[in-house]
Amino acid sequence: MCGIFGYVGAKNNAALMTLEGLKLLEYRGYDSWGIAVKTKGKLVVDKHTGKIGEAKTVLPQSTIGIGHTRWATHGGVTVKNAHPHMDCTREIAVIHNGIIENFLPLKKDLEKKGHVFISETDTEVFAHLVEEYRKTEPFSKSVRKAFNKIKGLNGIVALDASADEIIAAKTGSPLIVGKGQDGYYIASDSSGILPHTKELLFLKDNEMVILGKTFTLLSLPNGDRLTPEFVKVDWKIQDSTKGAHKHFMIKEISEQPKVVRNIAENYHDQIENLARVISIAKGTFFIGSGTAFHACLVGTYLFSKIVKKHVNTAVASEFNYLEHFLNNRSLVIALSQSGETIDVVEPLVRAKQKRSKVFAITNVLGSTIYRLADYKMLLGAGPEKAVASTKAYIAKISLLLLLSYAMIGEYKKGKEMLLLAADEIERLLREEYIREFKKIATVLNKTEHIYTIGRGFSYPTCLEAALKIKEVSYVHTEGLAGGELKHGTLALISPGTPCIVFAPQDETYEAIISNATEIKARGGVIIGVSPFRSEIFDYWIEVKDIGDATLIPMAIPAQLLGYFLAVKKDLDPDKPRNLAKSVTVK
Ligand code: F6R
Repeated sequence: MCGIFGYVGAKNNAALMTLEGLKLLEYRGYDSWGIAVKTKGKLVVDKHTGKIGEAKTVLPQSTIGIGHTRWATHGGVTVKNAHPHMDCTREIAVIHNGIIENFLPLKKDLEKKGHVFISETDTEVFAHLVEEYRKTEPFSKSVRKAFNKIKGLNGIVALDASADEIIAAKTGSPLIVGKGQDGYYIASDSSGILPHTKELLFLKDNEMVILGKTFTLLSLPNGDRLTPEFVKVDWKIQDSTKGAHKHFMIKEISEQPKVVRNIAENYHDQIENLARVISIAKGTFFIGSGTAFHACLVGTYLFSKIVKKHVNTAVASEFNYLEHFLNNRSLVIALSQSGETIDVVEPLVRAKQKRSKVFAITNVLGSTIYRLADYKMLLGAGPEKAVASTKAYIAKISLLLLLSYAMIGEYKKGKEMLLLAADEIERLLREEYIREFKKIATVLNKTEHIYTIGRGFSYPTCLEAALKIKEVSYVHTEGLAGGELKHGTLALISPGTPCIVFAPQDETYEAIISNATEIKARGGVIIGVSPFRSEIFDYWIEVKDIGDATLIPMAIPAQLLGYFLAVKKDLDPDKPRNLAKSVTVK
């Protein structure tokens, strides 16, 4: 979380480059932003609340600058709390990603020594700590000492008015250095650097770099010099503009047929390899967070029904408490769009300590999870910019369907099903359907609560549908297994409560229609997603039956309903309040 960008070199437009870099990283946090540059031996800082969007900066020309786009953890969204943060002398500027867990005792100690704090953030402590050490030590040594004093998983970049250097260090959050022809770049993910250079160094935990006219890599704990291993990547800067679309979310929804076809056509060897790795493992675990967890759950149902094999699924942040039995024959498969989610990274590190094998399925080449894994597969969905995940989810469940068929030696059948799924998604995106989705969104706009129900394959679908609708529209939406209704939630249904019912043509059809009837009897409004027009549906969204692959197009209606509901409410579906695309704090 939080976007970090910095530049030092021969170019004198550091502020502008930092601003453009932050725009590329804004999806990581968009509460507020700020930039610091050094000019005539002084640091000049420009900070704002709100999204960076089309912002301009009035900062002077400079050859060195750092910037940050924030997702608030400590302290509200104010200009004071925006980064960079400075010390009392205003000679040190600091930007930060992570949480300084011991900031309170450090702050108290520094206050006793006379330091005056301006913000409520944990980050500001770091600037004052460096100030304290810098009274007797050079800047770089002060930063190292300060870093060794703080606790938690952090990535910090610092600037000093009296040095032409950027210093960066990390113990958790990602930081990547780029070596360009005319200087060095630093960013919290490679997408900020790739427009400038493809020669990258992925900082490891407990490393520190000094970037200036020269480059120095040090060990954080003891200050020993390390040899940097820059890698030349041939990654393309993939198109990540909205094009003709009003929002990234709708653009990404509309790209889904292409994403599914790409998987159907191009993943044979990779899927067969994953099938082989699973078949030799003793115990397979799928882990992910949020939408990615729902994809994991889809995997469990697919493996049970198609492969007749039990695979375990856990919410990644809970896996820390459920992994006592992992051993060197276990396989942990991590699903993560960003490849940076700390809740996924942590259990993977622990799994590796137990010598289990780790397989990463992610959308971002070079991400932390990608680099950490023993085996890796890219989703190939292209950049996903909207905070609400759509095409990455569809890519994940498409891969899992193909994998399930590969596991039983029927890859070709899986591929054919995926091609049908792509066609069905395309049909749902046709204008006449879009009109229908907009109409149903108008109905949903009048309510405070929505429920979604499903059984079997449609259980993860209804959980994902609820997440998608609530996170972009802020309307409370709860997904539950159809059978669970009568165990409590039915008490909340009152006349007019909308309920989205997933009723595919499978073994769940009759039971889920019967659950829907129970809701209808209490005055609920039924929105049926099904190949059949049941008489109990008040609204019907037709999703054709394509066998097991039906679960892929079944996910589309809630994406569109959530999107149109957000638009109706005049919300920005790309940047829901309080959220960020890449969740790198616990
Ligand atoms: C919801 C959403 C989140 C992410 C979750 C994990 O639409 O996008 O729930 O799925 O934060 O992110 P990744 O997949 O990047 O690990």
